Amino acid sequence: MENLSGKTAFITGGASGIGLGIAKACGRWGMKVIIVDARQKAIDEALPFFKEKGWPVHGIKLDVTDREAYAKAGDEAEDVFGKIHVLVNNAGVDAGSGPLWKFTYKECDFAVGINIVGVLNGIINIVPRILKHGEGGHVVSTASQAGLIVVPGCGLYNMSKHAVIGMMETLASDLVGTNVGASAFMPGPVVSNLRNSSQEVKPESLREEKPKMPPPQRPNDGKEPPAMPDFSKMFMSPEEVGERVVRGIRRGDLYILTHPEFKDGVRARGEALLRAYPNEPLNEDLMKTFGMLVYNPIYDTQTTPGDPDWK
Ligand SMILES: NC(=O)c1ccc[n+]([C@@H]2O[C@H](COP(=O)([O-])OP(=O)(O)OC[C@H]3O[C@@H](n4cnc5c(N)ncnc54)[C@H](O)[C@@H]3O)[C@@H](O)[C@H]2O)c1
Repeated sequence: MENLSGKTAFITGGASGIGLGIAKACGRWGMKVIIVDARQKAIDEALPFFKEKGWPVHGIKLDVTDREAYAKAGDEAEDVFGKIHVLVNNAGVDAGSGPLWKFTYKECDFAVGINIVGVLNGIINIVPRILKHGEGGHVVSTASQAGLIVVPGCGLYNMSKHAVIGMMETLASDLVGTNVGASAFMPGPVVSNLRNSSQEVKPESLREEKPKMPPPQRPNDGKEPPAMPDFSKMFMSPEEVGERVVRGIRRGDLYILTHPEFKDGVRARGEALLRAYPNEPLNEDLMKTFGMLVYNPIYDTQTTPGDPDWK
């Protein structure tokens, strides 16, 4: 979707961190922005930036797990700006830590409800609206590098982000032949408010649950504890990732990646999967009859940012 000017972006989790970075980049590219978030206070704090710049913006308070309210939010966005062209399913939560078998069902429902079903609710509610006007569009969903390389002890988060990537690859396949594209966005560490916002959007009953992993104990050897590293030097800014997401939308990329530091880890996983296939003769009939099962051409179009043809 090359030309974004005058088009409308509907961005969930848009009042903070990565979502706000994407919203600002969309504004910079001349888009009208709908900031959708579960926290009204965060929306109120986010809007003045856009108003001061004179960029069209509208805030909608929405919990992405509330399907009835989601449909109303879609109607409200269309009432305000006419059409929605870009959907960014970015709202997500830190799903807590601990071995998978120690999570409670309530914690599972909370994480799956927002990180997976919330994305699906966005697709079901907004994609038909984009397809209907025929002007073209794009859908981006924020997964994570944890959707590619699992982080030990973060099982609910890992699996939710794996699901988002699968959802977006499927959506991209389903949208082939339309003028609507789809991207899975997998950032590495980015400066944001995820810890705090996740606590704020949690039901009261979950906030009281104790952490399953006690904080690591320091050896009592009388030495000063090592200074905390300066994370601000290691984490990317939301503004930077926002620009990269907009580039991915404009190019129609299937994957939007920001952190090359994860490449070896992803390669190791891919190679482990390939090693796990038995070295046996292939059943050519199966391959011919079920071509779409054994090979999906959507992967062939992916390009590399910074390569000569990459704008
Ligand atoms: N920050 C990182 O390092 C990082 C890395 C990889 C992926 N992510 C993902 O990026 C996305 C954005 O998170 P962030 O890090 O910018 O954190 P953030 O807290 O700054 O932003 C998340 C926003 O989502 C909103 N939200 C949460 N639950 C919601 C719900 N049910 N309905 C509507 N809005 C809801 C929050 O209110 C918040 O404003 C998440 O999906 C997160 O998993 C973050």
